[in-house]
Amino acid sequence: MTVFCTDGVIFPLMIFILVQNGNGEECTKVLNNRHYSCEGRNLTYIPSSIPSSVETLDFSFNLLPSLQKHLFPPLNDLQVLDLTRCQIQYIADDAFHNVKNVTTLILTGNPVSYIAPDSLNSLHKLQRLVLVDIGLLSLNVQFNNLTKLQELKAGSNKIQTIALPPFMINFKDFCVLDLHANNISRIKVNHTAVLREMRGNITLILSSNPILHIEPGVFKDIYLKELNIQSAFVSFDAMRYGLKALSGLNVGKLIIGNYIIDKNIKISDADFLDGLCLINFNELYFFQKQHSDYEINVFHCMINATKITLKEVHIGAIQHVSFRQLKELYMQHNQLPLILEISHLHLLEKLVVVYQDPVYLRGLRDLPKLQYVDLSTNKLHLFDCCSEFFSGMPNIHTLNLSFNEIIYLSKNPFSGLDSMKILDIQRTHLRGLNVQFKFFKSLKNLQYLDISYSHSTFLRTMTFSYLSSLKVLNVAGNNFQGDALNYVFQNVTTLEVLQISDCGIQNIDWRAFQSLSRLRHLFLSQNKLTVLDFVTHPNLRSLTLLDVGTNSIFSIPPHILQNLPTNLSDLDLSFNPIECSCSHIDFIMWIVNHQQLFQQSTNISCEILSQDSKIRLIDFDTEGCVHIRRLTIVLCICAVTFLVIVSVLTYKFQFYLRYGYVLLRGYRASRQQECSYDAFVIYSSKDESWVMDELVENLENGSPPIHLCLHVRDFEAGKAITSNIIDEGIMGSRKIIVVVSKHFVESAWCRFEFEVAQSWLVMQGNANIIIIILEDVEEKSKKVFGLHKHLKNNTYLKWSGNPINNMRFWIRLRKAVITRN
Ligand SMILES: *[C@@H]1O[C@H](CO)[C@@H](O)[C@H](O)[C@H]1NC(C)=O
Ligand SMILES: *[C@@H]1O[C@H](CO)[C@@H](O)[C@H](O)[C@H]1NC(C)=O
Ligand SMILES: *[C@@H]1O[C@H](CO)[C@@H](O)[C@H](O)[C@H]1NC(C)=O
Ligand SMILES: *[C@@H]1O[C@H](CO)[C@@H](O)[C@H](O)[C@H]1NC(C)=O
Ligand SMILES: *[C@@H]1O[C@H](CO)[C@@H](O)[C@H](O)[C@H]1NC(C)=O
Ligand SMILES: *[C@@H]1O[C@H](CO)[C@@H](O)[C@H](O)[C@H]1NC(C)=O
Ligand SMILES: *[C@@H]1O[C@H](CO)[C@@H](O)[C@H](O)[C@H]1NC(C)=O
Ligand SMILES: *[C@@H]1O[C@H](CO)[C@@H](O)[C@H](O)[C@H]1NC(C)=O
Repeated sequence: MTVFCTDGVIFPLMIFILVQNGNGEECTKVLNNRHYSCEGRNLTYIPSSIPSSVETLDFSFNLLPSLQKHLFPPLNDLQVLDLTRCQIQYIADDAFHNVKNVTTLILTGNPVSYIAPDSLNSLHKLQRLVLVDIGLLSLNVQFNNLTKLQELKAGSNKIQTIALPPFMINFKDFCVLDLHANNISRIKVNHTAVLREMRGNITLILSSNPILHIEPGVFKDIYLKELNIQSAFVSFDAMRYGLKALSGLNVGKLIIGNYIIDKNIKISDADFLDGLCLINFNELYFFQKQHSDYEINVFHCMINATKITLKEVHIGAIQHVSFRQLKELYMQHNQLPLILEISHLHLLEKLVVVYQDPVYLRGLRDLPKLQYVDLSTNKLHLFDCCSEFFSGMPNIHTLNLSFNEIIYLSKNPFSGLDSMKILDIQRTHLRGLNVQFKFFKSLKNLQYLDISYSHSTFLRTMTFSYLSSLKVLNVAGNNFQGDALNYVFQNVTTLEVLQISDCGIQNIDWRAFQSLSRLRHLFLSQNKLTVLDFVTHPNLRSLTLLDVGTNSIFSIPPHILQNLPTNLSDLDLSFNPIECSCSHIDFIMWIVNHQQLFQQSTNISCEILSQDSKIRLIDFDTEGCVHIRRLTIVLCICAVTFLVIVSVLTYKFQFYLRYGYVLLRGYRASRQQECSYDAFVIYSSKDESWVMDELVENLENGSPPIHLCLHVRDFEAGKAITSNIIDEGIMGSRKIIVVVSKHFVESAWCRFEFEVAQSWLVMQGNANIIIIILEDVEEKSKKVFGLHKHLKNNTYLKWSGNPINNMRFWIRLRKAVITRN
């Protein structure tokens, strides 16, 4: 008979009006077209957006009170159907007609009142059936055709017996029966009849049931893969007798113990585990959240076990237990101080004793197969570590002594432990490491070393150079004396991950990492670094992760940013005093543009010095800086343009400027000047031959000799030409002779000299200019020079090639020069 339990009444067929009420949002695609989730959308129908190729459909937390034939569209590939808490009350015969290839059906948490006989039976391929918390009173649900079924999970119901329906004998692959948190109080011999006939090797979970009594021999000669009877008994006594009643059971893993604290355990209860001696088990998992002042006789029925896990059990000492086959021993959170002295366990491979405070390690001896030792978090004090504690255990490859009190290293601390691959001594005060560097001499195979926060100080020695296989090294939270950083990591060429956070490092020389060409991850957070120059060194080219968070970096210059290792994909700069100012805008823009490098880019904040406040760097107003920069550029351009214009103007009007200057000077100096020449000759250098051959010849060598001032000859060397013109030429001479020719009018200098002379003489009030026309020049040029005025005034002489005229010419010239006015 099928019994359902909605108030004990068999529910009539329910006709539910499926209202498509519009609040059913579409489902989300979890993976390709195969996995969809419609969780918690209050859907009353299967949305048409679900493709027929769907393999996994999570339809939990919706509203499907009645499962009818046409509810599911044809979904032939559907394997996993999750209908958790859909308020399902009624399941019709052909409810799963369109999804008959399902292998996993989850009906957890539905108030099911009626399951039609053919509904589950049509799911021929079903392997996992989850009927947790659906109000089942027994396992007599009609699923007799599901011969492929492997797992039946029927926890949190009101089932009263472990008896299985007879048809399950045919379920050849059946392996898990979960009946936790039901209402099983008695187990009788006939309840296991079906189980006994099945092929065995089943995992049976009976935890959290109120078992009062088990008939002795119930499980005799049954083989279970795993039996979980944690918190499965109503009382301590029920447990004591229950364990005894399990005599003859063969089980791979036995899980026992209690979640609930029972304050009434007495010394007479010390033997409550004696029933274990009657059970054949390999592994034992014992969790006993029990507080008592008495020590339980734990181990004497466990001597044949291969693996033992004890959690929160009171044990004072482990010594001289003659385990025969023990390979793995785990002890955690046991409350009494533990004396650990384990010896002669020839098969022990793994020893884990953690969170046991404190442990007094008396010694481990004769454990030749031991490979894995974890004695962390035990407040251990070890003297003369470590070879002696682990002597005769050459196969140890993992040793974890972290989170203990103090370890004094002996002279050759790891000799004989050549197989060690992983050594973790973090957060344990390590004494003696700084004495010498031969400590690690034997550890040629060590790949992982953690000595962070061990109060160590590194000296200028190549501490790790013997570790020729080392890949991961953590020395965070220690000290480096002076420049020891440059020595400590030498020759560790195999290193891939290096953690040196929190070591007070202020600067790093590139030499520190020069051997580390395989380094991929470098952690340098919580130091006092201000610059990252070392990162650009070619030896760090393999770096992909660099953590320099919480340092004192306020900016990184462009030449470093451009030369970061090419494969760097993770850079942590969070919690650095980066300055949000326009002077670092290149750096800030670089961060904003390379956010893919920063997993935590929102953690990078920067300081606005003027306001003494902090903002997220990606919120900094870079636009403002761009404006300021533009303004600066515009101003620069303006300034340059102005200078160019001024230069052009200066060049163009240089004569006028010089002219003004010269006049000013000359005027100032005129009073003290004595004339030392008779005449200053202004001429073009191209007419020099005439001047030298004719003019100088005739005037200076005549009688009386006339003293001429010629710029080629008489100007003082090293003095500015303009000064010479004024001082020597114009002011130092009484008259000025101007030699006019085609060359003269073409020469800018001549024009300049002539104009200065004219102006000067005008200022002096005398017109002592004598013009010699050597060649005729165009009228236009005469005008430009202002020559025409002088020519009109007849103060000029004309040179002609003919000797008779020349005689007159010289006479007149001589007279003009000598005449005073
Ligand atoms: C589903 O219905 C419940 C109760 O009516 C309501 O509290 C919840 O917000 C609804 N959820 C959605 C996704 O509409
Ligand atoms: C269950 O198996 C029986 C016997 O093999 C068969 O007659 C019946 O049709 C099957 N039921 C369903 C729903 O497949
Ligand atoms: C559990 O089973 C007992 C009978 O063994 C019954 O009296 C009790 O009501 C059941 N409890 C529940 C919660 O169904
Ligand atoms: C039980 O199953 C395991 C694999 O899960 C297998 O190795 C073992 O041989 C089986 N034992 C028996 C008795 O069937
Ligand atoms: C351990 O196994 C041996 C035989 O292999 C058996 O004689 C002994 O009783 C067993 N001890 C316990 C405590 O199960
Ligand atoms: C060593 O033990 C500590 C504490 O139990 C743990 O955090 C750490 O990961 C272990 N080390 C290794 C290398 O497993
Ligand atoms: C370090 O390596 C260099 C070059 O490979 C070698 O000459 C030197 O002996 C090594 N030093 C140590 C202490 O191993
Ligand atoms: C960078 O990564 C690529 C691809 O993973 C690899 O081939 C290359 O060798 C790496 N470069 C360096 C310098 O490690």
